[in-house]
Amino acid sequence: MSLLEVANLSKSFSTRRDFLGRRTGWTHAVHDVSFTLDAGECLAVVGESGAGKSTVGRMVLRLIEPDSGTVTFDGENVLSAKPHRLREMRRAMQMIFQDPHSSLDPRMTVADAVTEPLIVHTDLDRTARQRRAGELLDKVGIGPRYLGRYPAELSGGQLQRVAIARALTLDPKMIVCDEPVAALDVSVRAQVLNLLRDLQEELGLAYLFVCHDLALIEVIADRVLVMKSGEVVETGFTTQIYSDPEEDYTRALLAAIPDPIPRSRVFRASSLSSPTRSPG
Ligand SMILES: Nc1ncnc2c1ncn2[C@@H]1O[C@H](COP(=O)(O)OP(=O)(O)OP(=O)(O)O)[C@@H](O)[C@H]1O
Ligand SMILES: [Mg+2]
Repeated sequence: MSLLEVANLSKSFSTRRDFLGRRTGWTHAVHDVSFTLDAGECLAVVGESGAGKSTVGRMVLRLIEPDSGTVTFDGENVLSAKPHRLREMRRAMQMIFQDPHSSLDPRMTVADAVTEPLIVHTDLDRTARQRRAGELLDKVGIGPRYLGRYPAELSGGQLQRVAIARALTLDPKMIVCDEPVAALDVSVRAQVLNLLRDLQEELGLAYLFVCHDLALIEVIADRVLVMKSGEVVETGFTTQIYSDPEEDYTRALLAAIPDPIPRSRVFRASSLSSPTRSPG
């Protein structure tokens, strides 16, 4: 049994209403999508803008309710879980969003942002929470001097590291990463990507890694799921998708990678950066 099992997931959004407010137009954002994700594995979900990648990621965590299909996490039905049970299950399945500016509360200090999940889910006292915040920030390469700072005082790369620390607070088994480096300066993308990969190895995390840029996922993904217009086009091991794609659409995505230099930069940067280096 896989950690995550997704079967026949579908979702339509209404796009137009008539003068009585009745829904008249529909977008089939996701249609009949199935896949599995093993513990400790990274599955990249790739495809052009509007392919339905984010909708899949959000439905897995039930941030969006699917129209049909099933989501099983750690042997348990996510879609039929009662609210209190869903809250419990969400300790083990976290999400990192594209834009750390909007995913972190501007009025919360870094320490509060990282420890908030502990207040909600545990009865650790303040001292224990602060200690945990220090450990987590250390893990993502942010020094203790940032504990009392506010998001506005941090760079995009630093903020994404804080968002990653917050996602790790409750020792999750899986993180849905929705374009986690797309909003960052090109210069810090490789650092944050390498941090995610190092954390995955160290903590045995599973990632559902949503990304429109195939160049970025070669270093982190074990398998790739290619989506187009809400449907799965192709799925396979990363090496196979890169070397011998079956579908024209996948070939076109690969051909759109400008040149191999950015990829080799990611490789090279990986030997230089570690979570303890200066944050980007
Ligand atoms: N809340 C919503 N209401 C209406 N339509 C939506 C909503 N969310 C997504 N859609 C539509 O569903 C389709 C899939 O959107 P989704 O955001 O999942 O794509 P994506 O692959 O993540 O794209 P991107 O790479 O641009 O983030 C798109 O046509 C989008 O316009
Ligand atoms: Mg998206």
